[in-house]
Amino acid sequence: MLGRNLVEELETEELTALSSRDADLRDALQVQKAIRASRPDWIILSAAYTDVDGCESNRQLAFAVNCEGPAHVAEEARNAGSRVMFLSTDYVFDGTKGAPYEANDPRNPINVYGETKARAEQRLLELLPEVCIVRTSWLYGHGGKCFPTTILKLAATKPEISVVNDQRGSPTFTVDLAKCLGQLCRKGARGIVHATNSGDCTWYDLATELVKTSGLPTRVKPVTTAEFPRPARRPHYSVLSATTLNAYGIQMPEWKDAVRRYLVGTRPS
Ligand SMILES: NC(=O)c1ccc[n+]([C@@H]2O[C@H](COP(=O)([O-])OP(=O)(O)OC[C@H]3O[C@@H](n4cnc5c(N)ncnc54)[C@H](OP(=O)(O)O)[C@@H]3O)[C@@H](O)[C@H]2O)c1
Repeated sequence: MLGRNLVEELETEELTALSSRDADLRDALQVQKAIRASRPDWIILSAAYTDVDGCESNRQLAFAVNCEGPAHVAEEARNAGSRVMFLSTDYVFDGTKGAPYEANDPRNPINVYGETKARAEQRLLELLPEVCIVRTSWLYGHGGKCFPTTILKLAATKPEISVVNDQRGSPTFTVDLAKCLGQLCRKGARGIVHATNSGDCTWYDLATELVKTSGLPTRVKPVTTAEFPRPARRPHYSVLSATTLNAYGIQMPEWKDAVRRYLVGTRPS
């Protein structure tokens, strides 16, 4: 999902876009070949095993893709002299802070996906002191299955839908994030950076906004996480502070503005 927007955003750069068919992150040799073929200035590592519930039952696969894979990339990037930007997640936090997480707050993941990303962050920081780790959250976009597509599909056929109202975060449009990642590369960013659309809401608020803006008559009913059990636990609060992003002179659009642009399919000016 994010990868497709990165390709559009970086079209003026000399860009090699790789999919899992070009190189499987789990295979060090394939990764080595792919990096040696282009010796890029930057590698943006957006690929991951992103099925948060699937990670719980496929722990080994999750660590192989999300932790060993990035380590393979880091090792070869060091040989090629490439900078690495690694995409990470708000789910490295446990959600108990109750105020926006700063980049240096302690990691304490409560699900396997978060564990894989937290471990990868630590390994990359050891292997590549110059790495840039970009934590983002609640991604949606046009290129894949995401929360808005599920909600809009349900809302098109059902008079009422139930959505959890006790998990708070910042929904982030992949178009806006891709633009931000391009800016961070050009500014030579390093260390941990938090990048999400600004403002925060619950999944219920996001569903309500999507349904209302689409002009659908569906009623959105708030429910609790306990009423909607899933294999993976989710943090109740995972808002990321924009301090690190603002330090690079970058501000992200507000989440409701992003939802409106997502729905009309337009790009920010
Ligand atoms: N989605 C979110 O809400 C969210 C939130 C926070 C952070 N992030 C992070 O942001 C990044 C982008 O997320 P996204 O939602 O755009 O991801 P996505 O749509 O799920 O795409 C992930 C990509 O990774 C590729 N991939 C999976 N296993 C691979 C492997 N072994 N080797 C090479 N490629 C592999 C997949 O290729 P195939 O389809 O061919 O398998 C797919 O193209 C990820 O790092 C994710 O962890 C996402």
